[in-house]
Amino acid sequence: MPHVVRLDKLLAGQGYGTRGEMRSALRGDRVTVNGVVTRSGAMYVNPSTDEVELDGEPIITAPAPVVMMNKPAGVMTATGDRRHSVVADLLPEKWRTRRLMPIGRLDIDTTGLLLFTDDGDLAHRLIHPKRLVDKLYRATLDAPITNEDIEAFELGVPMGGYKALPAKLERDPISSLAALVTVHEGKYHQVKRMFASRGRLVKALERLSIGPVRLDPMLRPGACRSLTHVEEQALRLSCGASGPDVGQPPPLLPPPPPT
Ligand code: URA
Repeated sequence: MPHVVRLDKLLAGQGYGTRGEMRSALRGDRVTVNGVVTRSGAMYVNPSTDEVELDGEPIITAPAPVVMMNKPAGVMTATGDRRHSVVADLLPEKWRTRRLMPIGRLDIDTTGLLLFTDDGDLAHRLIHPKRLVDKLYRATLDAPITNEDIEAFELGVPMGGYKALPAKLERDPISSLAALVTVHEGKYHQVKRMFASRGRLVKALERLSIGPVRLDPMLRPGACRSLTHVEEQALRLSCGASGPDVGQPPPLLPPPPPT
């Protein structure tokens, strides 16, 4: 894993205050690095080896949790927008200051499982189609699916100049107008366009799981919680991401053949 980070980013990212508050702490000689007072937020430090203190107390550089949210409809998957409310507004303060970013994107009207992390490598691996991490959606449609739809999804449906990767389509046991679809990629309006190519309209879409992590049915819309240790380990293993107790990941792409 990396790790040098800008001092002001490290301080703000650990929940000790905003970047502005941390800048004024620096100006007030309240921050030391390896025992030396520093005023430069632009200084790079290694949280594993450098001792950073604020007001004489060592700052704790525990990794941020991976967080799951039950995204409600009407909220954009973004960290800021002038017209719409955004998912970042729904995160509790303690996680907003950790600069957690949504992993991938759900449309404004899509509901369900959205994960957040500050681990760029984990996020990248989960959205990379080569990793084949399953994303399971429940789609409510204008008409029931047919066996031909199931076969077409299995082969990969055309999506306007592009052929979708094979996807698993199943009937929802609860409603004849709903279907369960498992995809491995996350192109713009992926699921809606896949159904559109079969002449179906998606009236509602909910994401139920990402890899081994299922949406917690106890989470009301807009609520979130951190993943349990077991959930996070399973998630990291599913995409080969490193992390506590997981060890070193395999490379994202296979190495080139020897020449
Ligand atoms: N596919 C869509 O069409 N929309 C989403 O929000 C997610 C997947």
